[in-house]
Amino acid sequence: MQLNTRKQQNILKNHEITKTLVSEEEVQNTVQRLGAEITAHYGQLERELMVIGLLRGSFIFMADLVRQIKIPLVVDFMTLSSYGDGTISSGDVKVVMDLDSSIEDRDVLLVEDIVDTGRTFSKVIRMMRNRNPRSLKVCTFLNKPAARIADIKIDFCGVDIPNEFAVGYGLDYAQGYRHLPYVGVLQLGSDK
Ligand code: PRP
Repeated sequence: MQLNTRKQQNILKNHEITKTLVSEEEVQNTVQRLGAEITAHYGQLERELMVIGLLRGSFIFMADLVRQIKIPLVVDFMTLSSYGDGTISSGDVKVVMDLDSSIEDRDVLLVEDIVDTGRTFSKVIRMMRNRNPRSLKVCTFLNKPAARIADIKIDFCGVDIPNEFAVGYGLDYAQGYRHLPYVGVLQLGSDK
């Protein structure tokens, strides 16, 4: 969907944040906790930890998280798409942009903004395992257990949230709301 159409402007205007799920303060506390857990888990590595963000949703969490990890690391990104501009996961996960670097024999941490049905992580984990990393762990800021379809193990988990449509702190609706510094529930109004 084009960002500059009248329809798009209305989509971002006619909806309301009805509830805060994760406040700004809780966001910061959660990121600090996860950074400390990750730092303690890896301790001393032979080579830098490779932290891989799944775009676009993880970009804000990733930027905050890496600043709380106190061991040497490098970052890379992969762009995926599963929802399009809707609110329901299509299950059709596409790789829009692949990694720049090889992960072979590296310690890899995959970073997501949210695990919802789990289909995205499940597909990416399978894809990454085929590339023979030395180790592979996953971290998500939000977890929605009630929506899970694919069975995945999350190694570093931020906040469990109910099965509601969340936006903010990287999560979008129709590409909007990603910049909110907290996570809220979006009640959809008219798109006309
Ligand atoms: C969102 C989110 C996760 C995925 C989680 O991505 O960033 O990648 O959905 O859902 P799942 O567990 O049901 O697979 P989306 O496809 O909306 O793209 P985005 O990262 O650009 O927001």
